[in-house]
Amino acid sequence: MAIPGFSFEESYVPCEGDYVLLPYRDGGTPCFRVDALPGALQAVVRAPKEEGGGIAVFLGEAGGVRLSVRCVRLDAKRSSVEAEARKLVVKGLGAAKKQESSRIVVLLDGQDARLTVAVQEGALLGGYAFDRYLEKKAEPLPVLLVVSGGDTASLRKSLEEEAAVCGCVNFARDVLNEPPNVIKPPSLAEAFLLAGKESGLSVSVWDENKLAEERCGGILGVGQGSAAKPRLVIGEYAPEGAQKHLCLVGKGITFDSGGYCLKPTEGQIGMKYDMGGAAMCFAAACAIARLKLPLRVTVLTPLAENAISGEAYMNTSILTTRSGKTIEIHSTDAEGRLLLADALVLASERKPDWIVDAATLTGACVVGLGEDIAGALGTDSDFTQALVKAGVDVGEWFWELPLHLPYLECMKTTVADVKNSAGHRWGGAITAAVFLKEWVPDGQKWIHCDIAGPGCKEEPLGHLGKGAKGFGVKTLVRLARNLAGK
Ligand code: BES
Ligand code: ZN
Ligand code: MN
Repeated sequence: MAIPGFSFEESYVPCEGDYVLLPYRDGGTPCFRVDALPGALQAVVRAPKEEGGGIAVFLGEAGGVRLSVRCVRLDAKRSSVEAEARKLVVKGLGAAKKQESSRIVVLLDGQDARLTVAVQEGALLGGYAFDRYLEKKAEPLPVLLVVSGGDTASLRKSLEEEAAVCGCVNFARDVLNEPPNVIKPPSLAEAFLLAGKESGLSVSVWDENKLAEERCGGILGVGQGSAAKPRLVIGEYAPEGAQKHLCLVGKGITFDSGGYCLKPTEGQIGMKYDMGGAAMCFAAACAIARLKLPLRVTVLTPLAENAISGEAYMNTSILTTRSGKTIEIHSTDAEGRLLLADALVLASERKPDWIVDAATLTGACVVGLGEDIAGALGTDSDFTQALVKAGVDVGEWFWELPLHLPYLECMKTTVADVKNSAGHRWGGAITAAVFLKEWVPDGQKWIHCDIAGPGCKEEPLGHLGKGAKGFGVKTLVRLARNLAGK
C-alpha cells in the first residue's frame, strides 16, 4: 500500500517546488486566511491569473522561491463541499506531478474543522494506491496541511481520530485488493487476527473442526469445495462500563466462482471483492476500538472460498445451520446467505442491542441502485434510517429497501425448511434479506446492508481510486459514534 507522507503545520514557510492549493467556496470566499499567508503569496492571491476553467494558476517565484499556486473552487453543485474537498488533493496530485513539484501544500482555516478533516481524508484515502505487484511503484507526493486559526488542540484530535479511521479503511482495501490466490480464508483470518490485536480487540479464530463442533453447517457447506478450509473470526471490544452492545456480521467469500453454478468469466472478475462485508465490519470494529468508543462491539466474519471440486456442495444438497433450520440448495451461487445464516445465529445468541450485517450479496441490488449505492433493509426503520443518515454524513450512500416478509413464499420447498434462491430474478435483494431474517429472532433490531455495488466497484468513486474502496467502514464508525452518544 502506498499513501502520501502527511504532515500538519500551523504556518506556511514556502519551499522550492511546492504545489500550493488554495481552496475557495463556490461564492468565491477563500477557505484559508489570506492574512496568514506569507507576503509574497498574498500578492498572488490578490491578483490571480484567470485560466480557462476559472482556476487561477501562478507559476513562478514568490519571495525568491519557485512555486506553483492553484486556486481551486469547491464546486458543490452535485455533491457537498466536503466531498469536493476530499477530491482536492487527488486533483492536485496529478497536476503537481506533471510540474515535477516536490510536495503538495493545502492552506486552510482552522475554524472550518469539517473541511480540514475532509482534506486530510482526501490525502489519506485519495492518495492510496495498491502497488504491491507492480514493478513500478506508485510514488505519492508528500502532502502538507497548513491550518491557521481555530482551536488547534481540538482540531488535532479530530485529525488524529480521522487518520485512525482512514488507516482502517485502507486496511480493508489492502486485504480486498490482494488476489484470491493469496488471500484465502486462513490467510484472511491471520490478517484480521493481527489487525484486530493491534487495534485492541480480543480475537479468536474458529477452524473447520471448531465450526463442525459448533454446528455451522452453512459456513462449512459453502467452504467444503475448497482446499483452503473455512474460518470464522470473532473480534471483541468490551470497554469497561459500556452499556450497549452492537454486533457486526460480514460476509467473507474470498473468491466467488459461483461453485457448480459457475459464473461466466466476466461474472468472476470482481469476485475477489466478495469479502467486502467482512472487511467492512472487521475494519470498523478495529476503528471503534482505536477510537475507544464507549460501546461494546462484537464482530463475526465467516470466511470461505466458493470453489468447485469433488467435495463441493451441489444443487439440491441440504445443509443444516446452527439454529437447526435446514436449507435446500437451489443455487450454489447464492452462497453468501448460507454463511450469514450461521453467523447471524451466533450474533443473536449474544443478545446484542443491535445487529448490522454487511454483504456483497446480490447482483439484483446493483441493478436496482447502481454501483455507488448500497441497499439497507431492516426490522426497525428508525434504526435503518440512522444508518442511512450516518452514511450521508460521511459521504457513503445507502438506500432503504423494504423487508417484505411475504416474499418468503418463493423460498418454500418440500424437502427442507427453506431453499436458498427464489427461482426467479424479481426483487433479488429483498428475497435475500427475507431469507436472512429466518435466522434473526423476532424483536431483534437488525439491518442487512447489501453492498454488492460499491463493495465490488472497480472504477474510481469520488476521491477513491481504482480497486477496492473500503466501502462502509466510515458509515459503521459514524453509526457506532452516534449509538455511543459520542
Ligand atoms: N457475490 C454475488 C453477488 C454479486 C454479484 C456481487 C455481482 C457483486 C456483483 C453473490 O454471491 C451471488 O452470486 N448472488 C446471486 C444470487 C442468486 C443466485 C440468487 C446473484 O446475484 O446472481
Ligand atoms: Zn458471493
Ligand atoms: Mn455467489
